Amino acid sequence: MRKVKSIVFLSGNGSNFQNIIDNIKSGFLHIEILSVVSNNKNAYGLERAKKEKIKTIMVNSDNDYNNVTEYIITNSVDIVILAGYMKILPKSFVNKHIGKILNIHPSLLPKYKGLNTHSRAIKDKEKYHGASVHFVTPDLDNGPVIIQGKVEIKNSDTKDILEEKIHKIEHEIYPLAIKWLSEKFIKQENDKCLFNNEVLTTPIEHI
Ligand code: GAR
Repeated sequence: MRKVKSIVFLSGNGSNFQNIIDNIKSGFLHIEILSVVSNNKNAYGLERAKKEKIKTIMVNSDNDYNNVTEYIITNSVDIVILAGYMKILPKSFVNKHIGKILNIHPSLLPKYKGLNTHSRAIKDKEKYHGASVHFVTPDLDNGPVIIQGKVEIKNSDTKDILEEKIHKIEHEIYPLAIKWLSEKFIKQENDKCLFNNEVLTTPIEHI
């Protein structure tokens, strides 16, 4: 059977990318990663890609994104995985690949879209914080959420401690969502996520 083809976008450390690779190697995910795309030439994730002999592609201009679209079409890429990609994708790019793009975001969406989610949750004295995997739409961090994992914020939690806890959750929930999409168990329909052909009214809660 043909393996589901993916590409990963990242801007930084790439621990989620590494975790996806580990889940492919363990046999949990039946996908292949054709390329890693980045806007940051110093991203450590690019080193991880080189180590795994995965092609890397740099993007800066709108034209570069058009080239990635060409690449996606030519290579029949099924899934575009955003794993710590810190640049807003051009709306035209998103619209061309709608239903194929997944993102992981470090908050319990719709709370704390955008940046600095951990410090903002601590500052607001939230009881819980977490991570969400969602389909990407042209509006930032606004696409239908598939799965979320949460943790209680302790009084002693600093931004760094919370970030570490959230990464742990991300490494559990992202492979699940990727598996579901790669096995066509989930689907995006406009602003909704279908799970086994039923509209998800609330995100799956990971426990
Ligand atoms: C992750 O926490 C991810 O949720 C976040 O960047 C981090 C990347 O970590 N993404 C965003 O904030 C996107 N808006 P990693 O490079 O170790 O995978």
